[in-house]
Amino acid sequence: MKKGFVVVWIGLSALSGCYYDNAEDLYGTTPCDATVVTWTADIQPLLQAQCVSCHSGASPSGGKDLSTYAQVKTHLGGVVSRVNKPVGDPLLMPPSGPLSTCSLTKLDAWVAAGALEN
Ligand code: HEC
Repeated sequence: MKKGFVVVWIGLSALSGCYYDNAEDLYGTTPCDATVVTWTADIQPLLQAQCVSCHSGASPSGGKDLSTYAQVKTHLGGVVSRVNKPVGDPLLMPPSGPLSTCSLTKLDAWVAAGALEN
């Protein structure tokens, strides 16, 4: 009984300690919450802000329109590959420089959860 309590307490302290350290290390003072990531709230606004200016319209860059869910889903492999290229790689997207760590974390989480239109 007493031992169980101590184990749980240590477990909780370790978890909260870890969470705090990671958030501080990776994202500075702004925490990145990638626990619930949706197309509507996170991914679409991200692509809209970072990609759609080039990847939409009559002749989208690279022939890839990224302005709708269906098109993003079709090109998902290329999207994930291009945003994760190393800095300095000419294939990195967006061309101006890499997405933030938080944006990449959210994209990963969304893809891992099945890339749903949620
Ligand atoms: C400033 C314009 C610009 C922005 C912003 C931009 N791209 Fe691109 N993108 C291009 C151009 C130009 C190409 C074609 C040349 C190439 O393949 O690198 C391209 C190619 C691509 C391709 C490969 C297409 C193929 O040939 O299969 C993908 C995937 C892609 N971009 C994804 C993205 C994503 C995701 C974002 C946002 C995170 C983004 N791009 C932002 C200009 C842009």
